Amino acid sequence: MAVSVWSLGNPELGGWGLWLSPRRQPLFAWHGPTQRLRALVSLAGVALLMALWLLWLLQSSPGGAPMPQPTLTILIWHWPFTYPPPELPSNTCTSYGVARCHLSTNRSLLATADAVVFHHRELRDGWIRLPLAERPRGQPWVWASMESPSNSHGVSDFRGIFNWVLSYRRDSDIFVPYGRLEPREGPAPPLPPKDRVAAWVVSNFRERQRRVQLYRQLAPHLQVDVFGRANRRPLCASCLLPTVSRYRFYLSFENSQHRDYITEKLWRNALAAGAVPVVLGPPRATYEAFVPPDAFVHVDDFGSARELAAFLTGMNESSYRRYFAWRDRLRVRLVEDWRERFCAICARYPHLPRSQVYQDLQGWFQS
Ligand SMILES: *[C@@H]1O[C@H](CO)[C@@H](O)[C@H](O)[C@H]1NC(C)=O
Ligand SMILES: *[C@@H]1O[C@H](CO)[C@@H](O)[C@H](O)[C@H]1NC(C)=O
Repeated sequence: MAVSVWSLGNPELGGWGLWLSPRRQPLFAWHGPTQRLRALVSLAGVALLMALWLLWLLQSSPGGAPMPQPTLTILIWHWPFTYPPPELPSNTCTSYGVARCHLSTNRSLLATADAVVFHHRELRDGWIRLPLAERPRGQPWVWASMESPSNSHGVSDFRGIFNWVLSYRRDSDIFVPYGRLEPREGPAPPLPPKDRVAAWVVSNFRERQRRVQLYRQLAPHLQVDVFGRANRRPLCASCLLPTVSRYRFYLSFENSQHRDYITEKLWRNALAAGAVPVVLGPPRATYEAFVPPDAFVHVDDFGSARELAAFLTGMNESSYRRYFAWRDRLRVRLVEDWRERFCAICARYPHLPRSQVYQDLQGWFQS
């Protein structure tokens, strides 16, 4: 993880390593007994000061905490979209590589939890209310949402309450993308055979959405098969990947265009399915922060829908194959389970700013 790599290279701690190195010259030269005593006393004083400073450094510097961590209790006030919540056995987070992290939905733990998480949807819909009167002093509260600002009404109700944000935004306190590429061990599976052009799965179809406008412009020039509830051709969960994998392209069109808002439409529906994503969302530079620049087609690279369609239909086999070059060394890792997202709070916990408060959560989220 980037943060822990940084802490290993922390120049302040590195400096300490040098200071304490036995090859350094002695601090004092020895003379008579009085001087020796005085020197010893000063040495002890210096050692004490150094120890105190070291302790302070370790506690205050982000990432500079090699001391053993106690088990953290993260209270999830309401499990996102789900009641009753899933079982949360004690090894829930260790299975995601996070140690000493206890997720719980037991509200009796409010008084003692190390952090409490509130998911926006249930707050907004009035399914839950914030237990403001019972909030222990200084307890960090986390606002969690994986939806874009366009689909998150009522954020402005929460001013000066939350300390940390868990979201897909890279500048979140707890950043949880919908997926990522990680190193592949062993050879990539062969690319699925392709006998169709472009697929799109859409359930929420509104004329004012940019993706719908673009689809309307593309459709006369490109063979697009539309699946999903919007077209009364729903795909079952296990049917999606085998269906999409027969297509050369998948329209990874986000429902709204916002900073860092890149969802499973890229990660699962296109990359994991083995189709080339044609993306509509944040700018190309954002996508390039997540995947190689030649792994996707960005609609902004074209002057018109017609040009985009001509580029896709005219692409020869060798150009097409190049979009999959990343598969030789990388594979898709989907991050879809809320348990994994919440365990990330523990991983980040030692580095999170304790005294921060989102006075203007809405302003931050819209920016
Ligand atoms: C919730 O936590 C309290 C306090 O630790 C405990 O007494 C109670 O049994 C727990 N409830 C459940 C359902 O686990
Ligand atoms: C495929 O298309 C690319 C880009 O237009 C072109 O440079 C390349 O020569 C073509 N390859 C073949 C085998 O036609």
